[in-house]
Amino acid sequence: MAAAKGLVGRVGGIDGVRRILRRFYARLAADPMVGFFFAGRDLGSIVEGQLGFMLWAFGEVPQLRVRHPRDAHQGLPPILRGHFDRRLVILEETLRDAGLVEEDVRAWLKVESALRRQVQARNESRPGS
Ligand code: HEM
Repeated sequence: MAAAKGLVGRVGGIDGVRRILRRFYARLAADPMVGFFFAGRDLGSIVEGQLGFMLWAFGEVPQLRVRHPRDAHQGLPPILRGHFDRRLVILEETLRDAGLVEEDVRAWLKVESALRRQVQARNESRPGS
């Protein structure tokens, strides 16, 4: 996570990350391809869970105090490769619109990309995918 060092400070601290995540989840929820996952769910609480995870993943807090993404998606429809990819595209757009420097965009995307096998439906996570 070395590349993410200082990222939280550069985007305006914890409130800055929260602002970005609010915009991100608003976009996800409105998206024709992945929006249905979020129908009827409390976006505010998903944002807080994601915030807790990102702060840990960015090395900002020493302990993970929220559900790990590998456990957070039980009870959802299967997350397929295309859904995961779509999320990454929307994330990148959101981060660029928020004005993050290139290095921080790449560091953030790297954290999320590394979780593919743990988040995608099992039979979608074959080697090479
Ligand atoms: C790297 C990728 C991902 C990460 C890091 C991630 C992270 C998380 C986290 C931490 C939560 C828990 C929030 C809480 O504790 O309440 C969560 C919930 C959720 N995620 Fe993800 N997620 C990822 C990918 C996806 C994808 C691809 C989708 C669908 C397109 C998705 C849909 C959802 C939904 C609908 C919830 C709410 C579940 C509920 O209400 O119980 N996530 N995610």
